[in-house]
Amino acid sequence: MEIKVIAARPEQLKPKPADEGNLGFGDIVTDHMFLMDWEKGKGWFNARIEPYHALAIDPAAMALHYGQEIFEGLKAYRGKDGSIYLFRAGENYVRMNRSAARLCMPELDIDFVLEGTKKLILQDREWVPRSRGTSLYIRPTMLATEPHLGVRPANGYLFFIIIGPVGAYYKEGLNPVKIHVEDRYVRAAVGGTGEAKTAGNYAASLLAAEEAKKKGFTQVLWLDAAHRKYVEEVGTMNMFFVIDGEVITAPLTGSILPGVTRDSVIQIVKHWGLKMTEKSLAIEDLIGAAESGRLKEAFGTGTAAVISPVGQITFRGKDFIVAGGKMGDLSQRLYNEIVAIQYGEKEDPYGWRAKIA
Ligand SMILES: Cc1ncc(COP(=O)(O)O)c(C=O)c1O
Repeated sequence: MEIKVIAARPEQLKPKPADEGNLGFGDIVTDHMFLMDWEKGKGWFNARIEPYHALAIDPAAMALHYGQEIFEGLKAYRGKDGSIYLFRAGENYVRMNRSAARLCMPELDIDFVLEGTKKLILQDREWVPRSRGTSLYIRPTMLATEPHLGVRPANGYLFFIIIGPVGAYYKEGLNPVKIHVEDRYVRAAVGGTGEAKTAGNYAASLLAAEEAKKKGFTQVLWLDAAHRKYVEEVGTMNMFFVIDGEVITAPLTGSILPGVTRDSVIQIVKHWGLKMTEKSLAIEDLIGAAESGRLKEAFGTGTAAVISPVGQITFRGKDFIVAGGKMGDLSQRLYNEIVAIQYGEKEDPYGWRAKIA
């Protein structure tokens, strides 16, 4: 399929952010977007890059009523020499296809959407920020557009990609965050949609996150829905713990998102010859390890922040300080390694980086 390009007219171009040190996250979008449509019996068609614009959606569009909406989050990075790199972008589209299958939505041709992603970035290449710590966030999204009231999979969908320059996701930056262990609300149950990147999971997480924020926490740490016992993930990150020299993360049992950064960390930790285990960790055991000083580090992993050290875990009103409230050595080493690969500053033995310009 050909990708038609309608470039924005000069008067449609937006001013680019003047201060890259102040980008924040998620507020700025570029001049163009990628779109394509899907209809039952026809497949994907009308792939195009157009000036960024609002969507006209029928009020009966099924995504608005029954939640068939999936998305992805990935980034492009600019190296010191001006090159632009994508990091494991294919993995995000593989995950998007798994989300699509779970929500009865159509699958994407991964090579084609990768081509669309690159073409869109190149169209708006001047928007890819230049300073270390900044990047271009990429948000592919698919939603059911067929107007119909009645629960069944829709027969029509829109796929689009929007992009925008971003800085740090958390105001803390690399400073350790405080997390609240949530033992009342749950995010997702095994057999549900927790492993799909779909809007409903995030809607389900908001109330607990808001209540935690009011008490001064950055995120909540979810426990498994069935027992409220095993540690799962935090708001938008997978979690890792270093206990007795072993690096531990929750296994992919269906209720947590299989993070691309999670997978990168697992591979790197193994490559470095450290003990890496995917296993269920009971909250009592985590707290016990924190109390006895055996919990050396806790950190979250995700595209937005890469590595986010956890300095405090609060469970049932009791605070446990991790790694003296500072970023741990492994967290720092992993951050340095991944970021250096992303910005093209060091060799990439894993083949994760793709230069697109
Ligand atoms: C619920 C959830 N868990 C984990 C992650 C981390 O995934 P990734 O490393 O692919 O960004 C994210 C971020 O996308 C997320 O939303």
